[in-house]
Amino acid sequence: MCGSGRIGRVHAANIAAHPGVNLAWVADPVISSASEVAALYGARATGSTDDVFADTSLDAVVVCSPTPTHIDLIRAAVGRGVAVLCEKPIDLDIGRVRSCLADLAGSTAAVMMGFNRRFDPAFAAIRQRVQAGEIGRLEQLTITSRDPAPPPASYIAASGGIFRDMSIHDLDMARFFIPDVVEVTAHGANVSSDYIAEAGDFDSAAITLRGRNGELVSITNSRHSAYGYDQRLEAFGSQGMLRADNISPTTVRSFGTLAVEGADPYEPFFLERYAAAYRRELDAFVDAIHTGIPCSPGFEDGMAALILADAAAESASTGKTIAIEEVITHEGALRK
Ligand SMILES: NC(=O)c1ccc[n+]([C@@H]2O[C@H](COP(=O)([O-])OP(=O)(O)OC[C@H]3O[C@@H](n4cnc5c(N)ncnc54)[C@H](O)[C@@H]3O)[C@@H](O)[C@H]2O)c1
Repeated sequence: MCGSGRIGRVHAANIAAHPGVNLAWVADPVISSASEVAALYGARATGSTDDVFADTSLDAVVVCSPTPTHIDLIRAAVGRGVAVLCEKPIDLDIGRVRSCLADLAGSTAAVMMGFNRRFDPAFAAIRQRVQAGEIGRLEQLTITSRDPAPPPASYIAASGGIFRDMSIHDLDMARFFIPDVVEVTAHGANVSSDYIAEAGDFDSAAITLRGRNGELVSITNSRHSAYGYDQRLEAFGSQGMLRADNISPTTVRSFGTLAVEGADPYEPFFLERYAAAYRRELDAFVDAIHTGIPCSPGFEDGMAALILADAAAESASTGKTIAIEEVITHEGALRK
């Protein structure tokens, strides 16, 4: 694997625990970090990804390095016929993503994008039940995603902005239900973090998407939330509604004179909230490699989410609704 930071350590633990795979290498230019993680799981550590790709016994690589490194690592892996699970986003520049997609044409190596929320048991169950027709025709999707606290200024400066960094997960979740999005309208605001405003970014965002069949998606994002990591989803249809609420570490409820049904605080942040999703994501990647079925979400899904994020950023800065000319179908194919 490439990168042994926050998310790399989650994937390393899951790879090591998976019965069908071995963690062979941990590559990170911060060799002390690579060595620390490699030692935990009996893998080899290196400061250079070249060592990883020189290993001809490698079947797959998990890319957990900073976003600007993703495209080069995808190219290196695919060029050697090695399957890739790459963290989101593919890149912050849609031009580079398009050029990479063109270069991947004809290659057989699997590429999967790390949109882990598709593998959250609750969200995946809602999607499966919507597809089974339980709520009739899907009319509205409401996605709430608020981080517990804003990241530091250094993170904001390199993030690509709230739409490409944070909303991209929710835009992918929208596409998980409604792949053919035709219109994006977005608003951004700065309500609590001066340094985010000074960086030209927003700490609060609201996005509306319109699906090809008239479905409406509402996404609400905030870089902070006083009550913790807020991750909810609601699907509304002609025959009913399906909803997934926040998750607490236990089901204990307190009852007192001032309040009832008091739950523990929510899971603190993504590492805890989506722990099961990261495991299921890896399971899906390994299954795809073993069975040869296409990886999902694939490279095109990563590109589609970035197209929507770019449109949201454009809408928020111009005040206009942005039409999406490209459609990425359920099968992941790009068509005009
Ligand atoms: N899916 C999710 O829930 C999720 C969550 C967090 C981060 N991410 C994504 O994962 C990526 C990494 O984020 P993070 O928070 O773990 O960052 P991080 O800074 O904690 O870790 C990144 C690690 O990669 C190393 N690195 C730098 N250049 C490298 C290279 N060329 N090859 C190998 N390793 C290299 C760094 O030294 C560092 O140890 C980002 O693209 C981010 O958007 C996804």
